[in-house]
Amino acid sequence: MRIGILGSGLMGGKLGTIFARAGHEVVFSYARSTKKLETLARKAGKNARAGTPPEAAHRADALLLAVHWSQIDDVLQQTGDLSDKVVVTCSMPMNDDDTDLAITHTSSGAEELAKKIPKARIVSAFNTVPSEVLFGVYEARRKAARPSLIYCGDDLRSKRLAAELIRDVGFDPVDAGPLRIARYAEPFTMLVAQLAYEGKGGPELAYRFERF
Ligand SMILES: NC(=O)c1ccc[n+]([C@@H]2O[C@H](COP(=O)([O-])OP(=O)(O)OC[C@H]3O[C@@H](n4cnc5c(N)ncnc54)[C@H](OP(=O)(O)O)[C@@H]3O)[C@@H](O)[C@H]2O)c1
Repeated sequence: MRIGILGSGLMGGKLGTIFARAGHEVVFSYARSTKKLETLARKAGKNARAGTPPEAAHRADALLLAVHWSQIDDVLQQTGDLSDKVVVTCSMPMNDDDTDLAITHTSSGAEELAKKIPKARIVSAFNTVPSEVLFGVYEARRKAARPSLIYCGDDLRSKRLAAELIRDVGFDPVDAGPLRIARYAEPFTMLVAQLAYEGKGGPELAYRFERF
């Protein structure tokens, strides 16, 4: 697949690198420096390059949205028309100081994103794992008893595609249902993050919790 990365930080940088190593064509975009995007692309190998958000979206089979919630409008504005595009979002609707969810219970970041770009095909995935575990899961790529990863969305095509990408990273994709399930998955992510960054045992504990 051709995959555009919108937001090339911890999540976008790692997932984009894994997608490129798994054989997809990847364009890294949206960081504060072009040099960073170029370095990322060089390290990710021959299938990756650096570009602008419109270049990442052009002819992309899927876009990974991995920016802070406060940057969503900016990145969407820079990217341009996303009609019919598959957008896999791992972006969490965090408040500005990252202390809590800014949207919860009656909606979710994924659902609010779908309202912002109603013609795009949104699927919520990868937000339940801390970025620290991604390379380990990819390198292990276990044949059996893979760690599970939930995804949800209303569009079948984008869900099939997200499931394929989840498998490529080394997880077992679990279809959690329609996009509104994100309003339960996102608070679950907060629990995983709490375990990863504040509980004893760090990311490894969160990873085990995710597997469970
Ligand atoms: N990190 C995790 O473990 C994790 C897990 C689950 C979900 N998430 C969610 O995934 C999303 C991304 O998280 P992250 O940890 O990957 O964040 P991050 O490392 O801060 O990455 C965000 C990206 O956006 C870029 N950016 C920020 N402001 C910009 C601006 N004004 N202009 C251009 N680019 C700009 C950053 O540029 P620079 O590269 O130059 O900083 C970076 O590439 C968030 O919504 C987060 O809640 C993260």
